[in-house]
Amino acid sequence: MRLQIFDNHETLSRATADILLRTVRENPRSSIIIATGSTPTLAYQLWVQDLLRQDIPTDELMIIKLDEWGGLPMDHPSTCETYIQKHIIQPLSLRPDQVISFTSVAADPAAECDRVYRAISALPSIDCCVLGIGKNGHLGFNEPNTTWSTVPHVAKLSITSLGHAMLQGDSRDVQYGLTLGLDTISIAKSILALASGSEKTAIVEQALRGPVTPQCPASILQTLPQSIVYLDTKAAERITS
Ligand code: PGA
Repeated sequence: MRLQIFDNHETLSRATADILLRTVRENPRSSIIIATGSTPTLAYQLWVQDLLRQDIPTDELMIIKLDEWGGLPMDHPSTCETYIQKHIIQPLSLRPDQVISFTSVAADPAAECDRVYRAISALPSIDCCVLGIGKNGHLGFNEPNTTWSTVPHVAKLSITSLGHAMLQGDSRDVQYGLTLGLDTISIAKSILALASGSEKTAIVEQALRGPVTPQCPASILQTLPQSIVYLDTKAAERITS
Protein backbone atom coordinates (compact mmCIF):
# COMPACT_ATOMS: atom_id res chain seq x y z
CA MET A 1 0.00 0.00 0.00
CA ARG A 2 1.24 3.44 -0.92
CA LEU A 3 -0.11 6.50 0.82
CA GLN A 4 -0.18 10.08 -0.37
CA ILE A 5 -1.61 13.08 1.43
CA PHE A 6 -2.88 16.17 -0.37
CA ASP A 7 -3.53 19.69 0.88
CA ASN A 8 -7.16 19.59 -0.08
CA HIS A 9 -9.87 17.78 -2.02
CA GLU A 10 -9.05 19.65 -5.25
CA THR A 11 -5.44 18.51 -5.39
CA LEU A 12 -6.45 14.96 -4.43
CA SER A 13 -9.01 14.99 -7.25
CA ARG A 14 -6.48 16.30 -9.77
CA ALA A 15 -4.04 13.52 -8.90
CA THR A 16 -6.81 10.91 -9.15
CA ALA A 17 -7.88 12.22 -12.53
CA ASP A 18 -4.26 12.09 -13.71
CA ILE A 19 -3.97 8.39 -12.83
CA LEU A 20 -7.22 7.62 -14.64
CA LEU A 21 -6.09 9.63 -17.63
CA ARG A 22 -2.77 7.82 -17.77
CA THR A 23 -4.54 4.46 -17.48
CA VAL A 24 -6.66 5.15 -20.58
CA ARG A 25 -3.82 6.75 -22.50
CA GLU A 26 -1.56 3.76 -21.93
CA ASN A 27 -4.29 1.23 -22.68
CA PRO A 28 -7.39 2.46 -24.51
CA ARG A 29 -9.00 -0.94 -23.80
CA SER A 30 -8.74 -0.46 -20.04
CA SER A 31 -11.43 -1.72 -17.71
CA ILE A 32 -11.99 0.57 -14.76
CA ILE A 33 -14.10 -0.04 -11.65
CA ILE A 34 -15.93 3.11 -10.65
CA ALA A 35 -17.08 3.94 -7.14
CA THR A 36 -19.79 6.54 -6.69
CA GLY A 37 -20.29 8.97 -3.79
CA SER A 38 -19.12 12.49 -3.14
CA THR A 39 -15.38 11.84 -2.82
CA PRO A 40 -14.49 10.90 -6.43
CA THR A 41 -16.93 13.22 -8.22
CA LEU A 42 -14.55 16.07 -8.93
CA ALA A 43 -11.87 13.59 -10.06
CA TYR A 44 -14.28 12.10 -12.59
CA GLN A 45 -15.25 15.54 -13.86
CA LEU A 46 -11.59 16.47 -14.38
CA TRP A 47 -10.83 13.11 -15.98
CA VAL A 48 -13.72 13.30 -18.43
CA GLN A 49 -12.88 16.92 -19.27
CA ASP A 50 -9.29 15.95 -20.06
CA LEU A 51 -10.27 12.88 -22.11
CA LEU A 52 -12.51 15.07 -24.24
CA ARG A 53 -10.14 18.04 -24.52
CA GLN A 54 -7.20 15.83 -25.42
CA ASP A 55 -9.30 13.78 -27.79
CA ILE A 56 -8.25 10.51 -26.18
CA PRO A 57 -10.23 7.61 -27.69
CA THR A 58 -12.67 6.00 -25.25
CA ASP A 59 -14.57 3.74 -27.62
CA GLU A 60 -12.88 0.64 -26.20
CA LEU A 61 -12.93 1.70 -22.56
CA MET A 62 -14.92 -0.54 -20.16
CA ILE A 63 -16.59 0.93 -17.11
CA ILE A 64 -17.58 -1.37 -14.25
CA LYS A 65 -19.96 0.00 -11.65
CA LEU A 66 -18.77 -0.94 -8.16
CA ASP A 67 -22.15 -1.22 -6.46
CA GLU A 68 -25.82 -0.35 -6.49
CA TRP A 69 -28.79 0.23 -4.22
CA GLY A 70 -31.16 -2.72 -4.70
CA GLY A 71 -34.81 -1.79 -4.93
CA LEU A 72 -34.60 1.75 -6.30
CA PRO A 73 -35.70 2.24 -9.92
CA MET A 74 -32.60 2.49 -12.15
CA ASP A 75 -33.39 6.08 -13.09
CA HIS A 76 -33.95 7.19 -9.49
CA PRO A 77 -31.76 10.25 -8.76
CA SER A 78 -29.99 8.39 -5.92
CA THR A 79 -28.83 5.31 -7.82
CA CYS A 80 -25.20 4.65 -8.61
CA GLU A 81 -26.43 4.18 -12.19
CA THR A 82 -27.74 7.75 -12.36
CA TYR A 83 -24.39 8.92 -10.99
CA ILE A 84 -22.21 7.07 -13.51
CA GLN A 85 -24.52 8.01 -16.38
CA LYS A 86 -24.30 11.67 -15.44
CA HIS A 87 -20.61 11.90 -14.66
CA ILE A 88 -19.04 9.38 -17.04
CA ILE A 89 -21.21 7.45 -19.51
CA GLN A 90 -23.16 10.30 -21.05
CA PRO A 91 -20.38 12.91 -21.27
CA LEU A 92 -18.11 10.31 -22.93
CA SER A 93 -20.98 8.92 -25.05
CA LEU A 94 -20.08 5.35 -24.06
CA ARG A 95 -22.15 2.54 -25.57
CA PRO A 96 -24.17 0.18 -23.34
CA ASP A 97 -21.74 -2.63 -24.21
CA GLN A 98 -18.94 -0.59 -22.62
CA VAL A 99 -20.58 -0.72 -19.21
CA ILE A 100 -20.88 -3.60 -16.74
CA SER A 101 -23.48 -2.55 -14.27
CA PHE A 102 -25.74 -4.21 -11.71
CA THR A 103 -29.38 -3.46 -12.31
CA SER A 104 -31.07 -2.11 -9.20
CA VAL A 105 -34.36 -3.87 -9.95
CA ALA A 106 -33.34 -7.47 -10.64
CA ALA A 107 -36.09 -10.05 -10.20
CA ASP A 108 -33.35 -12.36 -8.92
CA PRO A 109 -30.55 -10.28 -7.33
CA ALA A 110 -28.27 -13.31 -6.82
CA ALA A 111 -28.58 -14.19 -10.52
CA GLU A 112 -27.79 -10.56 -11.35
CA CYS A 113 -24.58 -10.87 -9.32
CA ASP A 114 -23.71 -14.05 -11.27
CA ARG A 115 -24.29 -12.17 -14.54
CA VAL A 116 -21.94 -9.39 -13.45
CA TYR A 117 -19.38 -11.96 -12.29
CA ARG A 118 -19.43 -13.69 -15.68
CA ALA A 119 -19.14 -10.37 -17.54
CA ILE A 120 -16.13 -9.34 -15.45
CA SER A 121 -14.52 -12.76 -15.77
CA ALA A 122 -14.59 -12.39 -19.56
CA LEU A 123 -12.48 -9.21 -19.45
CA PRO A 124 -8.77 -9.50 -20.22
CA SER A 125 -7.91 -7.52 -17.07
CA ILE A 126 -9.14 -4.96 -14.60
CA ASP A 127 -6.73 -2.09 -14.95
CA CYS A 128 -7.82 0.29 -12.25
CA CYS A 129 -10.32 0.35 -9.41
CA VAL A 130 -11.46 3.58 -7.79
CA LEU A 131 -12.83 3.21 -4.26
CA GLY A 132 -14.12 5.57 -1.62
CA ILE A 133 -13.43 4.58 1.98
CA GLY A 134 -16.84 4.57 3.67
CA LYS A 135 -17.50 6.15 7.06
CA ASN A 136 -17.82 2.66 8.57
CA GLY A 137 -14.83 1.27 6.66
CA HIS A 138 -16.83 -0.34 3.90
CA LEU A 139 -15.50 -0.67 0.34
CA GLY A 140 -18.43 -0.71 -2.05
CA PHE A 141 -21.05 -2.56 -0.04
CA ASN A 142 -18.51 -4.90 1.48
CA GLU A 143 -19.75 -4.00 4.91
CA PRO A 144 -18.04 -4.53 8.28
CA ASN A 145 -17.81 -8.22 9.18
CA THR A 146 -18.06 -9.27 5.55
CA THR A 147 -16.08 -12.32 4.49
CA TRP A 148 -12.77 -11.42 2.87
CA SER A 149 -13.13 -13.59 -0.15
CA THR A 150 -16.18 -12.56 -2.07
CA VAL A 151 -17.31 -12.36 -5.66
CA PRO A 152 -20.14 -9.98 -6.67
CA HIS A 153 -22.88 -10.50 -4.13
CA VAL A 154 -26.05 -9.24 -2.49
CA ALA A 155 -25.24 -7.36 0.71
CA LYS A 156 -27.24 -6.59 3.79
CA LEU A 157 -26.74 -2.88 4.20
CA SER A 158 -25.52 -1.35 7.44
CA ILE A 159 -27.34 1.53 9.12
CA THR A 160 -24.37 3.72 8.17
CA SER A 161 -24.73 2.86 4.49
CA LEU A 162 -28.48 3.43 4.57
CA GLY A 163 -27.71 6.88 5.97
CA HIS A 164 -25.41 7.74 3.05
CA ALA A 165 -25.90 11.22 1.64
CA MET A 166 -26.63 9.75 -1.83
CA LEU A 167 -30.02 8.56 -0.55
CA GLN A 168 -30.85 12.06 0.62
CA GLY A 169 -32.45 10.76 3.79
CA ASP A 170 -34.83 8.51 1.89
CA SER A 171 -33.78 4.88 2.19
CA ARG A 172 -37.33 3.44 2.38
CA ASP A 173 -37.21 1.63 -0.95
CA VAL A 174 -33.67 0.34 -0.61
CA GLN A 175 -33.85 -3.37 0.20
CA TYR A 176 -30.25 -4.55 -0.15
CA GLY A 177 -26.97 -3.67 -1.80
CA LEU A 178 -25.37 -5.23 -4.87
CA THR A 179 -21.62 -5.04 -4.83
CA LEU A 180 -18.42 -6.32 -6.32
CA GLY A 181 -16.62 -8.36 -3.71
CA LEU A 182 -13.15 -7.98 -2.29
CA ASP A 183 -11.84 -10.72 -4.60
CA THR A 184 -12.75 -8.73 -7.69
CA ILE A 185 -11.41 -5.49 -6.23
CA SER A 186 -8.16 -7.22 -5.29
CA ILE A 187 -7.39 -8.38 -8.82
CA ALA A 188 -7.33 -4.83 -10.20
CA LYS A 189 -3.84 -3.91 -11.37
CA SER A 190 -4.09 -0.62 -9.54
CA ILE A 191 -6.43 0.25 -6.68
CA LEU A 192 -7.01 3.87 -5.87
CA ALA A 193 -8.75 4.37 -2.53
CA LEU A 194 -9.83 7.89 -1.63
CA ALA A 195 -10.92 9.63 1.55
CA SER A 196 -11.35 13.28 2.26
CA GLY A 197 -12.77 15.42 5.03
CA SER A 198 -12.84 15.18 8.80
CA GLU A 199 -15.76 12.72 8.85
CA LYS A 200 -13.26 10.11 7.58
CA THR A 201 -10.45 10.87 10.06
CA ALA A 202 -11.31 8.12 12.56
CA ILE A 203 -12.03 5.38 10.04
CA VAL A 204 -8.91 6.18 8.03
CA GLU A 205 -6.82 5.68 11.17
CA GLN A 206 -8.58 2.38 11.88
CA ALA A 207 -8.30 1.16 8.28
CA LEU A 208 -4.69 2.09 7.66
CA ARG A 209 -3.10 1.82 11.09
CA GLY A 210 -5.35 -0.70 12.85
CA PRO A 211 -5.45 -4.48 12.50
CA VAL A 212 -6.33 -6.03 9.16
CA THR A 213 -9.77 -7.40 9.91
CA PRO A 214 -13.14 -7.98 8.25
CA GLN A 215 -14.56 -5.66 10.92
CA CYS A 216 -13.04 -2.89 8.83
CA PRO A 217 -13.07 -4.02 5.18
CA ALA A 218 -10.91 -1.07 4.09
CA SER A 219 -8.08 -2.49 6.21
CA ILE A 220 -7.56 -5.00 3.37
CA LEU A 221 -5.82 -2.15 1.54
CA GLN A 222 -2.84 -2.66 3.86
CA THR A 223 -2.32 -6.10 2.33
CA LEU A 224 -2.61 -5.10 -1.33
CA PRO A 225 0.71 -3.96 -2.81
CA GLN A 226 -1.01 -2.32 -5.77
CA SER A 227 -3.19 -0.10 -3.59
CA ILE A 228 -2.68 3.64 -3.52
CA VAL A 229 -4.50 5.60 -0.82
CA TYR A 230 -5.08 9.29 -1.48
CA LEU A 231 -6.13 11.36 1.53
CA ASP A 232 -6.59 15.03 2.12
CA THR A 233 -5.04 16.55 5.25
CA LYS A 234 -8.33 16.38 7.18
CA ALA A 235 -8.86 12.66 6.57
CA ALA A 236 -5.18 12.06 7.34
CA GLU A 237 -5.14 14.05 10.58
CA ARG A 238 -4.77 11.10 12.97
CA ILE A 239 -2.22 9.23 10.94
CA THR A 240 0.12 12.19 10.54
CA SER A 241 -0.05 13.73 14.03
P1 PGA B 1 -18.46 9.20 -0.03
O1 PGA B 1 -18.89 7.69 0.02
O2 PGA B 1 -17.44 9.33 -1.10
O3 PGA B 1 -19.73 9.95 -0.37
O4 PGA B 1 -17.94 9.56 1.32
C1 PGA B 1 -17.97 6.67 0.19
C2 PGA B 1 -18.72 5.45 0.64
O5 PGA B 1 -19.52 5.54 1.58
O6 PGA B 1 -18.49 4.38 0.08
